[in-house]
Amino acid sequence: MELIQDVQVLQQRMLDERAAGKTISFVPTMGFLHQGHLSLLEEGRRRGDVLVLSIFVNPTQFGPNEDFDNYPRALQRDMDLAQTTGVDIIFAPDASAMYPAGSATLVHVSGLTENLCGASRPGHFDGVTTVVNKLFNLVQPHVALFGMKDFQQLAVIRKMVVDLNMPIEIVGMPIVREKDGLAMSSRNTYLSDDLRRQGLSLITAIRTLCRSALAGERNTARLIEQAREIISAQPSAQIDYIQICHDLTLQDMEMVDEHAVVLLAVRFGATRLIDNHYLLQQPA
Ligand code: PAF
Repeated sequence: MELIQDVQVLQQRMLDERAAGKTISFVPTMGFLHQGHLSLLEEGRRRGDVLVLSIFVNPTQFGPNEDFDNYPRALQRDMDLAQTTGVDIIFAPDASAMYPAGSATLVHVSGLTENLCGASRPGHFDGVTTVVNKLFNLVQPHVALFGMKDFQQLAVIRKMVVDLNMPIEIVGMPIVREKDGLAMSSRNTYLSDDLRRQGLSLITAIRTLCRSALAGERNTARLIEQAREIISAQPSAQIDYIQICHDLTLQDMEMVDEHAVVLLAVRFGATRLIDNHYLLQQPA
């Protein structure tokens, strides 16, 4: 496994791999790897001859009062974990390499980015699509893998790839959960035991809503109210949003059908957790 930190070195190496006819799989991350990331890497390993992992805590996707400075970073630990999944190249640039002075280009996907996290984190998705675009230009993957926990991010990236004619297959991988149902996230490390216990109300709400929907409840306002009751019973919960949206358009729905996904973002203390599930699929 090779660690590359220089942008030009990576780009040349990837040009060489392509010229040699290799299929390139890519998993972009911000590091502090957990089982969810490892599932992406394992699938990436199956799909490509060369598996590239990027680790870059991207400053442009964090708002001024968000956790960029505190975001957990542990490169050596991540390298040890990556090695167990057969990663060939880790790309871990620093911010000045990715955004040299004078960088002035942003990639903006409209339509899918105004609702949900886009409403509470203005500019977040421009930061994501810009850095993912840059990473794609450097790595030149045939296939790139993303987790479905960031449901909106995945939809936005799929749209960008179609709109900009990028010859890249985007693969969405299922959410990986802790034994108790908490969706894995690098940010879970911020939670005290008490907040972590309160955070389980997200999966409790998801399971309750899926059960209701599968039993025949189709009215999204009533379902959202059920989730709101469960989550707001937790003393530290501050609900950012609980919405039921169409999986492709991310627009709010009034009645549940097979496209309906419940998406939640809730703060517990300083930690914002997100989760989602298709309402007419058996709950996790
Ligand atoms: O999902 C993430 O970890 C990030 O948003 C990504 C896709 C690596 C872009 O910085």
